Amino acid sequence: MSKLVRCAVAVATAAWGVSAFAQTPSPAAPVDPNAFLDQFEATFGKFEGYRRSGAKGICATGEFVGTAEARALSTSSAFSGRPVPVIVRFSVGGANPKAPDNTKSQRNMALQFDLPDGERWQLGNISAPVFGASSPQQFFGRLASLQPDPATRMPDPATVKAFADANPEVLLQGRYFASRPVPASFGAVNYWGVHAFGFVNAGGKPQFGKWVFEPVGGVQGLTDDEAKAKGPSFLFDDLRQRVKEGRVAFNFNLELAEPGDRIDSATVPLPEGRRKVNLGLLKVTSVAEDGAGACLTITFNPLVLPKGVVPSDDPMIAARSAPYAVGLGRRLGEGAKQQ
Ligand code: HEM
Repeated sequence: MSKLVRCAVAVATAAWGVSAFAQTPSPAAPVDPNAFLDQFEATFGKFEGYRRSGAKGICATGEFVGTAEARALSTSSAFSGRPVPVIVRFSVGGANPKAPDNTKSQRNMALQFDLPDGERWQLGNISAPVFGASSPQQFFGRLASLQPDPATRMPDPATVKAFADANPEVLLQGRYFASRPVPASFGAVNYWGVHAFGFVNAGGKPQFGKWVFEPVGGVQGLTDDEAKAKGPSFLFDDLRQRVKEGRVAFNFNLELAEPGDRIDSATVPLPEGRRKVNLGLLKVTSVAEDGAGACLTITFNPLVLPKGVVPSDDPMIAARSAPYAVGLGRRLGEGAKQQ
């Protein structure tokens, strides 16, 4: 190895703060989507047939009706004011299909709006206002730093710390979850898009903003004792019960970015107090049996957008598409299970 290459390796290794340089791409190099999936499996385990992220999930259907305010912002047919059918997938964060429901971890709500003329809009939303990394390279490095040591079956604390010290934004999401109670229901927690998207009106100018789906009945959390008493598997039954009673609905709200706001980072929310526009109401109307429903063969790709909605320069948006497709391919090839 030449002196120059040795020096570059040393600098890159120090910058990423991990010892396994071979697993850590340079900050500018794209991450190979297969390498991403391999790293998910190495870090979180391989559960054949299941999604490598959001494995424990349930499929539902619903309906969305857009508002006049949304129509003023975007020409998308999602906002026509006529009911639009939606496929909904709720899940618990992580790769384990038996992940407990009663811990302070991530909940997800993925959506597919089936629009007129075969158009589709896919949205993956999470129960935190920020994601755990701001670039695909940083996300990959974080996953690599969390990979268990074969001897201890635990991540190496020094490697985890070194990476987090060099990339402090990877800790923001965990701090948010730690500060909130365990969600009482899939239907009683906020779900953020975390990326900015542009809403394009008839004049052709995009208004950028970040969206959040807020439960109409309000956010509901469990005390630590209540969470313990609920046990590890209550969210599916709770969802069925609430949907039967017509109690699962979300306001689709958009926080509008102002000039100078950062709109290229999933780890930087918009500043407090930005104007919030109600884009419409999403009602969940039926829940599939466990393991059934349309979600099994869908991957929710954030670049599947309707006319009238455009991505921002956030590098994480485009970085999701290929790994999702690879993930779908792997789980279908293994015989897709559950949802
Ligand atoms: C480069 C960054 C990312 C990678 C490599 C990645 C990877 C994955 C993979 C492999 C899946 C499973 C896909 C499937 O089998 O259908 C998944 C699911 C998911 N991801 Fe990501 N992800 C990334 C960033 C994000 C971000 C920034 C968000 C924040 C909104 C997010 C939210 C979700 C959600 C909500 C699901 C579950 C979707 C479902 O129910 O099918 N991901 N991700």
